Order: sequence, then C-alpha cells, then structure tokens
Amino acid sequence: MGEGKFTIASDGVDPLNVPRRTLYTGAKIPAIGLGTFGSDRFSGEQVSEAVRGAISVGYRHIDCAPVYGNEALIGEALHEVMRAGIKREELWITSKLWNDMHGEGDVLLSCAKTLKDLRLDYLDLYLVHWPFPNSHAPGCSVDSRNPDAKPYIHEDYMETWRQMERLVELGLVRHIGTSNMTIPKLKLVLRDANIRPACNEMELHPHFQQPELFQFVVENGMVPIGFCPIGSPNRPDRDKTETDTVDIEDPVIAKIAKRRNVHPAVICVKWAVQRGQIPIPFSIHRKNYLSNLQCTTTDPLTEEEMQEIAGIDKNCRLIKGQVFLWKEDQSWEDLWDVNGEITPG
Ligand SMILES: NC(=O)c1ccc[n+]([C@@H]2O[C@H](COP(=O)([O-])OP(=O)(O)OC[C@H]3O[C@@H](n4cnc5c(N)ncnc54)[C@H](OP(=O)(O)O)[C@@H]3O)[C@@H](O)[C@H]2O)c1
Repeated sequence: MGEGKFTIASDGVDPLNVPRRTLYTGAKIPAIGLGTFGSDRFSGEQVSEAVRGAISVGYRHIDCAPVYGNEALIGEALHEVMRAGIKREELWITSKLWNDMHGEGDVLLSCAKTLKDLRLDYLDLYLVHWPFPNSHAPGCSVDSRNPDAKPYIHEDYMETWRQMERLVELGLVRHIGTSNMTIPKLKLVLRDANIRPACNEMELHPHFQQPELFQFVVENGMVPIGFCPIGSPNRPDRDKTETDTVDIEDPVIAKIAKRRNVHPAVICVKWAVQRGQIPIPFSIHRKNYLSNLQCTTTDPLTEEEMQEIAGIDKNCRLIKGQVFLWKEDQSWEDLWDVNGEITPG
C-alpha cells in the first residue's frame, strides 16, 4: 500500500462494531488501540505501515509516543488516511510527554513537536509517560543511571500537570492522563488536579492484572489503558529477567485458545477488552493485528473462562523501569510504591 493508495480493506472490521468506552467527559474511545513501540526490532517505516494497515482494517485508536522515535513516520500514515477520507474525528490519537520534558515551558513544546510530527492540530489524549523526570539514552542497559535522576516529587509533578491542563484549555489536547502510576501517587494527583486524568495507562496482561490499581482507577472515573496486553513476548532483551513468566504459554490461555481456534495472544486481547481495560497490542503483521481487532466483535468469553483467567495472575511485572531509579542500591520495586506509600527520596 503506497502513498495515496490507502483503501478500506474488504476483510476488515467495521469500526462501528468495535466496542467503545465512555470517558468522564462523555467522549468515546475505541476499546482497543494499536501500540506503536517497535521494541527496537521494527523500523519506524514498518510501524508506520502497520498504522496505515491497521486503520485500513478498522482500527481507529493509535497509541504513540515521541520516545518510540517514529511519530514523524506515523504522521505520514495519518496524513494519508485522512486525505483518503477518514475524518480526524473518527480517529483517537494518544501521545505521551517524555521524561526529559517535565520542566517549566517544556510541555507545550513537546506537545507542539508531537502535533507537528503526527501532522495533527489536536490530540485526543496526552499522557505523562512516567511520573519521574528521569530520562536515559534509548536502548541503554538497565543498570545505567541518570546522575540527575529524582524520586517522585508531587509538587514537581503538579507543575507538569498544570502545563498539561493548559494544553486542554488551549484546545491542543482533548484529554490528559497518567501512565505508570501507583495508587498513592494517583490519590495526590486526583486531590490537586483541576482537570482530572481521563485515563491511566498501565501494564496489564493475564499474568499481571493489578487488581487493586485497576479497581482504584475505575472507581475514580478513569479508564485503564493496558499496555503489554499480550505480555510483550518480543520486548527488548534488556526488559527481560529470568523470573518473568510468559502469558501466551500459560496452560489456561493455551487451552481457551485451542478451544476457540485462535492464537493465545488473541485470548489475552479478548480478555482485556471484556474485563474493561483498553488493550493496545502491537504487531506489524496484518494477520495478527487483524485477529486482535476481530476478536473484540466475536462471541465473548464465558463467565467460566473469565474466572479461569482471573485465577492465573502471577503479579509478574515486565516493564520494571530500572533505568528510572534515582540512587544506587535501589530495587525496581521502589518505583512502584509496593508498601502502599510513595517511596521517599
Ligand atoms: N505507557 C507505557 O509506559 C508503555 C510501556 C510499554 C508499552 N506501551 C505501549 O503498549 C504497546 C503494546 O505493548 P508491547 O508492544 O510491549 O507488547 P504486546 O502488545 O503485549 O506484545 C506485542 C507482541 O505480541 C505479538 N502479537 C501481537 N498480536 C499477536 C497475535 N494476534 N498473534 C500472535 N502474536 C501476536 C507481536 O508479535 P509479532 O511481531 O510476531 O506480530 C508483538 O511483538 C506498545 O507498542 C506501546 O504502544 C506503553
């Protein structure tokens, strides 16, 4: 499918049949999106081509971020599909503020750069990618530390958040949200925000169901967006540890997949949509991203199947975030407030 050749696929899914979730503003967001992090394995061109293909088969929600290094190429795909007749209002485009742009004046600049790259004049959702202003070189080892790294400082986060709110007031962004948060951090943000987060993007897959955070997010009027919904089997090697488990090899997932004659990945996606989170699975392979979308419109999992999957949670976090730690001899758990309180600096 080359430049100017965008067409709607005849074997795709009618976007009107894809479930949607309602945000507290009343806006509707498609209940599945396409992830765009190429995991250092796929080029920006390949990911951009997947965005084009995904929209052609019926996706209307794309999860982007400048740190994925491909927004300008994705912008070309978005431009092409809109020129071919897909209306901007039909698309849901998310992007994220990277960690090195939390400072005063940085947020507007970042958003403007993303808008320029994506060739848009507004975003549907803009997330603070991580609650830490700690950046690192792309592809660096998990042991590397930024000497300027800091813990979560709520006052600083709120200064960033005020700038996020300003983007909504300016009409550059329709909704703002958080990502990689914990309950104690979210409690403070909800207490102090003028414009509440509409969504919280968080790691969610059958082996990492985060039931407490999930419930907290929903009860507080946010919609959970689930990243790594398939357990990110092709994530960069630096993000793998020996104790990580593999969702798509889980006997329960495999059994249900066999029964329904689909790949286990599809069961992970189907479960996610049915549970109420918005999965954003990644694939550049048409067959895969098409089956992930199709499964949102087919026979639901039974109550028994849902319960079986609820029973296989292994509390196995895959994206541990080690590079964001702020001092020596820390454990990655410190990023996630596992004791229920914000880990002090
Ligand atoms: N907010 C954050 O901090 C954050 C963090 C991580 C990720 N994310 C977002 O979440 C998205 C998804 O996470 P992810 O890409 O790490 O992991 P994922 O979606 O859980 O897994 C992606 C992998 O699953 C395979 N797959 C997808 N559909 C399949 C199917 N139907 N059958 C078989 N295999 C299938 C793909 O393999 P093939 O390549 O073989 O198709 C792909 O490599 C990212 O792309 C990014 O947009 C956000």
